[in-house]
Parts: sequence; structure tokens; C-alpha cells
Amino acid sequence: MRTKSLILEPINLIYSKDLFELWSDYDVIKYTYAPQIKTQKECDERIKMFIDKYTDWDCPNNFAVLLDCKAIGIAGFPVINKERFEFGFYYHFIKRCWGKGYASEVARALMEYIYKNYNEAIIYADAVVINPASIKVLTKLGFEQTKLDENGFNKNGLELDLIHFKFEKSKNKGSDVLSSSGFAGQPTSSNNALA
Ligand SMILES: CC(C)(COP(=O)(O)OP(=O)(O)OC[C@H]1O[C@@H](n2cnc3c(N)ncnc32)[C@H](O)[C@@H]1OP(=O)(O)O)[C@@H](O)C(=O)NCCC(=O)NCCS
Repeated sequence: MRTKSLILEPINLIYSKDLFELWSDYDVIKYTYAPQIKTQKECDERIKMFIDKYTDWDCPNNFAVLLDCKAIGIAGFPVINKERFEFGFYYHFIKRCWGKGYASEVARALMEYIYKNYNEAIIYADAVVINPASIKVLTKLGFEQTKLDENGFNKNGLELDLIHFKFEKSKNKGSDVLSSSGFAGQPTSSNNALA
């Protein structure tokens, strides 16, 4: 899948070296439930877990985000309940690539991809209240805030208020997300935002 400046490829062990920079950085994982990895082997294991445990083989749903052939992040929509078309939604980028609009670009492309494949999809995402960039990405796409969960995020003793978001196509008829830009094509091969 291509966006204006990036390529999304199903997550694969060949991106392990690049993704080590992502998951070994505390600033990247601190508001997510991802553990901070210390070794390349742990990085391999984490990628294998995405492939073995979280991949939907009917429709690739976990991607490495590539810039100039190098993975600068991951994004995807883990299956929550396939029969009810319920999915999570996440995006993580390496720190030196923050603030360039990449998360917005990728999130928009993913939304279009999801609705091309699952017309009825209901998408859930979470963001801690002190992660304004993530909240902005979701809000711009038309996600609605469904609940403020006091101390809903709890990781290694860090407790933060958590906002739950939801997107349903039927409730976002005015949104331009599903009709425009960002997305140009099908995947090249073949449980919420805090994953
Ligand atoms: C959250 C994250 C994905 C955002 O990625 P990004 O590529 O920097 O996001 P964008 O550049 O698309 O910015 C999104 C919006 O947030 C705004 N923004 C960015 N940082 C901000 C900050 N510290 N405070 C307020 N707004 C901010 C941007 O200006 C932009 O708004 P705009 O479209 O109106 O200009 C990135 O910081 C990241 O990977 N963080 C670690 C992992 C993570 O927390 N993932 C989300 C889990 S819920």
C-alpha cells in the first residue's frame, strides 16, 4: 500500500534491524502497552508475535511503514471480533520521524484500506490524555471520544487517564476520510491503538 510519501508492507522479520530503533526507545513505547526491548532477539520475537498471533491471513492488518526502503514505524488494525467487524487501530513511529505528518498520512490510508475490505468496520482506538499528537490524528479522521477512563492506562506503575475512541462509517458521512487522498492501491503482498 502506498501513501504520498510512504509504503506500507506487511510486517516481516526483514525489518527487524529498523524496528529495533522503534521498540528500544522508551519515548516511543511509554504510552503504549509495548514492552521496551533491549536486544535484537527480542525485536525478532516481537515481530514473530505480530505475524503468528495478530495477523489476519485473509487481509494483512499489521504493517511496517517504509521510507526510502527502511522501516520507520508500524501501523495496523488488530482484529477484535471479525464476525462483528470490530478492529483496533495503532501507529508507532521512530522519534526522528515525528512531526512530519507521517502518522496522519498513514492513519488515513489505513482507514481507507479497512473500509475497502470491511464496509461495516467499527474501529476502536485509545490514547492517553497526555499524547496530544495521537489524539489529534484520531480526531482529524473523525473518531469520536466515547469515554474518559480515569487511570485507565496502567503500565509499570505509571497511571494515566485514557481516552477511548470509536469510528463508524455510518456516523461519519460528512468525513472526507473514506473518499480521498492518501491511499493508492492494494497491499503489495500477501487489540486497540496502544498495541
Ligand atoms: C503519536 C505519533 C504516532 C504521532 O506521529 P507524527 O507522525 O508525529 O504525527 P503527525 O506529524 O501526523 O501529527 C499529528 C498532529 O499532531 C500535532 N502534534 C504533534 N505533536 C504534538 C504535540 N506535542 N502537541 C500538540 N500537537 C502535536 C501535529 O501538529 C499534527 O497536527 P496537524 O495535523 O494539525 O498539524 C508519534 O508521536 C509516535 O509514534 N509516538 C509513539 C507511539 C504512540 O504513542 N503511538 C500512539 C499510541 S495511542
